[in-house]
Amino acid sequence: MPRTLPYADMDKVLSLSKRRGFVFQSSEVYGGLGSTWDYGPLGVELKRNVKEAWWRSVVSERDDVVGLDAAILMHPRVWEASGHVENFSDPLVECRQCHRRFRQDQLESDVCPECGGVFTEPRRFNLMFRTFMGPVEDSSNEVFLRPETAQGIFVNFQNVQTATRKKLPFGIAQIGKAFRNEITPGNFTFRTREFEQMEIEFFVKPGTDDEWLQQWVRSRFDWYVNYGIRPGNLRLREHAGDELAHYAKATYDIEYRFPWGWGELEGIANRADFDLGRHKEFSGEDLTYFDDAIHERYLPYVIEPSGGVDRATLAFWLDSYDEEPDGNDTRTVLHFHQALAPVTVAVLPLSRNARLAPTARSVYDLVRRRFRCQFDDAQSIGRRYRRQDEIGTPYCVTVDFDTLDDHAVTIRDRDTMTQQRIPVARLLDVIQDRYDHGW
Ligand code: GAP
Repeated sequence: MPRTLPYADMDKVLSLSKRRGFVFQSSEVYGGLGSTWDYGPLGVELKRNVKEAWWRSVVSERDDVVGLDAAILMHPRVWEASGHVENFSDPLVECRQCHRRFRQDQLESDVCPECGGVFTEPRRFNLMFRTFMGPVEDSSNEVFLRPETAQGIFVNFQNVQTATRKKLPFGIAQIGKAFRNEITPGNFTFRTREFEQMEIEFFVKPGTDDEWLQQWVRSRFDWYVNYGIRPGNLRLREHAGDELAHYAKATYDIEYRFPWGWGELEGIANRADFDLGRHKEFSGEDLTYFDDAIHERYLPYVIEPSGGVDRATLAFWLDSYDEEPDGNDTRTVLHFHQALAPVTVAVLPLSRNARLAPTARSVYDLVRRRFRCQFDDAQSIGRRYRRQDEIGTPYCVTVDFDTLDDHAVTIRDRDTMTQQRIPVARLLDVIQDRYDHGW
């Protein structure tokens, strides 16, 4: 579908966000808490749909990936083994004049951008949040909020492999919260200190890792396109040698053209046997895999597609935003993929009328059994269509006075605005057909 805007205007999206209930500032009545956000009634549906679309694509529709939901708090040794205690830090500098703090590697000049002051020498700042397990706050009870979901997968590799009897290659997928005490969060939900990740650790035989990396890069890139991001707003970027994380043999980032510039949505890394090797060393457990095809034990290599739920949600949302000429007017419309739209069907009685109400309600009860549905009878039908366009509802079903006699309703398509008369008896099948075939 051609769009009027090349990509969304952030101010308009933010205003729509607050007005319609996508995302609110956290603790707003207390003045907010820096860079933390709450998903409102529409935002939570959108985000759930993004996670569901991911899960369907990488777990439900594959035979070689299973799911996991590991705890956020993990044994502190995990983070020593993973390298996070030693390496998960950013260079922090402080302005000697205004005392603002910055990530040195993100600065464009060597004086403070706020006041022109001189910086302190950089020091390494570990990004992990610390807390204490139990009532005694001493270092022996110190634990971390996980900075990535990945380690919960690595330490369960053996449990999952034994329980499922999966053979290589196979993967474990997980969606969950992660926490990083970012020095410079910002750009709305793009970089926050509490966020959600969707990660897969895909275990393969060494030697097949390069090919699997390419396969995962292709399939993850296609996922964003299939769910509606215009390919021109996506790009793939390979990490240069000096940019690679301490665990990675090779990494590709899928980047989106955000209004402020290109930004990472997902990284797909070849972690080789770094993690299983380190956990084997630190735990003393034998985490090798017995390959019965060649009667050999070895440490599997790992391909890791690791994406951010909040960033993907934001990208799908921004990319869907458009303003289109509509007669003498303009309509704001979110062209969400039908599987991502917070509301799939709106049931709208032509007017708020006692004769229409029971039939409209019964149509609503019918549709809501299968689809995410909203009932709206306030104001003119034209305004209600606009309200649904603005939140990206793909189908509006209108119940009018003829419905009382012919038992048919009108279904309106968000993108083409075409309308079709359908018998109520066929309504669910018609919506399902449109939903399945994307129109
Ligand atoms: N296990 C590998 C890993 O965590 P990462 O590149 O640090 O890799 C993966 O993070 C994804 O998590 C990123 O591509 C991004 O989408 C998301 N992410 C990372 N830090 C984030 C933050 N501060 N706020 C929101 N999302 C973040």
